[in-house]
Amino acid sequence: MANRLANKVALISGGARGQGAAEARLFVQEGASVVLGDVLDKDGERLAAQLNRVGAKECALYLHLDVSKAGDWERAVAATERQFGGLDILVNNAGILSLAGIEQTSEDDWQRVIDINQKGVWLGMKAVVAAMRKRSGGSIINISSIYGLIGSGGSAAYHASKGAVRLLTKTAALEFAGDNIRVNSVHPGIITTPMVEGIDRELRAGILSLVPVRREGRPEEIAYGVLFLASEESSYMTGSELVIDGGYTVA
Ligand SMILES: NC(=O)c1ccc[n+]([C@@H]2O[C@H](COP(=O)([O-])OP(=O)(O)OC[C@H]3O[C@@H](n4cnc5c(N)ncnc54)[C@H](O)[C@@H]3O)[C@@H](O)[C@H]2O)c1
Repeated sequence: MANRLANKVALISGGARGQGAAEARLFVQEGASVVLGDVLDKDGERLAAQLNRVGAKECALYLHLDVSKAGDWERAVAATERQFGGLDILVNNAGILSLAGIEQTSEDDWQRVIDINQKGVWLGMKAVVAAMRKRSGGSIINISSIYGLIGSGGSAAYHASKGAVRLLTKTAALEFAGDNIRVNSVHPGIITTPMVEGIDRELRAGILSLVPVRREGRPEEIAYGVLFLASEESSYMTGSELVIDGGYTVA
């Protein structure tokens, strides 16, 4: 199947690398125009240039977007509408990891994780709904985590933020159902990206030992789930949780 996102415009936060970059590549392959918003300007600009070389038309734009800042979101949505004529899909993908437990987490670290992982998702949804209403609907995909579903005995702020994303998704789904804007969450397991590559080797091996299929996931394996939720194929899904974790949360 091709062109599953023909004529659609998507804004992907944290789109410069990792899962966000995999989603951008797949979305372009499926006919979408994509706006990558990130704080890694060099990586984002490089990826947008690559995508524009591959596509038949100018299909990608990079913008500096710090998801914790309302003004950045407003500018990103305005630029998306100016460049591509509207906005249909938001992937709230940007995120940071903190492995610290409750006693080890400082107030500053707590706030930073909450500002990016939790407040950033709220600000993103708030910023895009007016643009989506102009298109008579849309699809918002919020990237939570298996750590938004179960505990792990560490990563206190990360769990708090990702658990919040799960329920924020459900309340947004109810709030925007009448606008034909669907809102779903995705819960990746351990996926090979720079985020996981930054984890200490022993701890990473320990986490991997809990995965029934005995391997980390690839960013593309998340991107295909996000593509499904972005496309009309999931038109009867809203407020749902898509778990893609190699069986991690089954036991
Ligand atoms: N990799 C995993 O195992 C895993 C598992 C579950 C959930 N997740 C979630 O998936 C999402 C993508 O993570 P990834 O694995 O690709 O990691 P990554 O670190 O490779 O990518 C995260 C991206 O978010 C960007 N970002 C960070 N702070 C930002 C900010 N303030 N504003 C805008 N962008 C910002 C980073 O620059 C980076 O490009 C995150 O929300 C993460 O929490 C990852």
